[in-house]
Amino acid sequence: MGRGPLATSFKETCLKVLITGGGGFIGRELGRRLTARGDEVIAFDSAFPPEALRLAEETSQYRLVHGDITDLANLVAAFQEGKPDGVIHCAAIVGVLFSIASPSSVFRVNLQGSINVFEAMRLTDVRRVVHMSTEEVYGDFERPVATEEHPQRPNMPYGISKLAVEHTGRTYRNLYGLECINMRTSWVYAVGLPRPRPPTTFLDAALQGKACHLAHGGDAAIDFTHMNDVVSGVLAALDAKAPTHDVYNIGSGTATTLADMVALVRELIPGADVSVAPGPYMFTPTLKAPTKGALDMSRAREDLGFVPRFDLRRGFEAYIETWRSQQKSGS
Ligand SMILES: NC(=O)c1ccc[n+]([C@@H]2O[C@H](COP(=O)([O-])OP(=O)(O)OC[C@H]3O[C@@H](n4cnc5c(N)ncnc54)[C@H](O)[C@@H]3O)[C@@H](O)[C@H]2O)c1
Repeated sequence: MGRGPLATSFKETCLKVLITGGGGFIGRELGRRLTARGDEVIAFDSAFPPEALRLAEETSQYRLVHGDITDLANLVAAFQEGKPDGVIHCAAIVGVLFSIASPSSVFRVNLQGSINVFEAMRLTDVRRVVHMSTEEVYGDFERPVATEEHPQRPNMPYGISKLAVEHTGRTYRNLYGLECINMRTSWVYAVGLPRPRPPTTFLDAALQGKACHLAHGGDAAIDFTHMNDVVSGVLAALDAKAPTHDVYNIGSGTATTLADMVALVRELIPGADVSVAPGPYMFTPTLKAPTKGALDMSRAREDLGFVPRFDLRRGFEAYIETWRSQQKSGS
């Protein structure tokens, strides 16, 4: 980590950015923000949900390219045809539970697929990629706040695959000068998260007038991160002239227990029928989630000028507003 400065200059004019997984939850938001500021986006993905198809209809600079990162020829063709200036690498099999259910496919897509992305970049002379990594690379947090130097002992296939991608990116940098910048982010929330997980399970239930009671997890402290902050951090890394490091935490900088998070849902959505019992957060009845905590934001602030704007209250208020306006407009 931190093996000298990367490129001296990156964003000088409008960019063309290839986003792997560009049709997904985070990829689409990156696409929205990039096109809003005048950049072009090639959304490379193996499956596009209706939200991505709608975005492509509304925004001519957001172009869909169907393809699979496990197929190198497919990727190289997209790079040769699209000629991107840079890459944001989101495509992955996401989540600890999926990774336990299917470890081979997680390594095939997350690691082999990432190697293909690096190879396609090397072969077509594209230098910078921002890779969406995860706080899962730390394994059990040994302290309440983790800097990027916290020991990295992931204990689930998902985190292991992401740490392997970080290391492989470093090898490509040493061998070929590829600039792979890894963003370790925590539990991202926004309307439309495609998998059931707090806090959106609680927010959605409360907004729909449904009950949500979790029998475990109240004591688990997690750095819930608002989508807008994640996107800002990733774009800061994409644009950065000379980032000193190749790995950055991107979070809110604060960990909130599930008990306090649920109390906030009840406060902001009166009548919410939601609760969480004390104890650790369990992935399954017998599998405890790693101990988590807050992500230290000092490095991202100093190097990238990134300052998170959404504490949990502000993030939840924004979530509730978006959810209600989407209900009204039927989108
Ligand atoms: N959502 C979070 O809380 C979170 C937290 C930390 C890190 N991340 C990372 O951010 C990235 C994006 O996550 P997300 O929440 O948007 O997930 P997502 O599942 O919505 O997006 C992933 C996208 O990758 C695509 N994809 C999967 N396999 C592919 C393949 N073989 N070829 C091409 N495309 C493929 C999927 O179709 C999907 O659109 C992932 O790398 C994830 O590990 C997410």
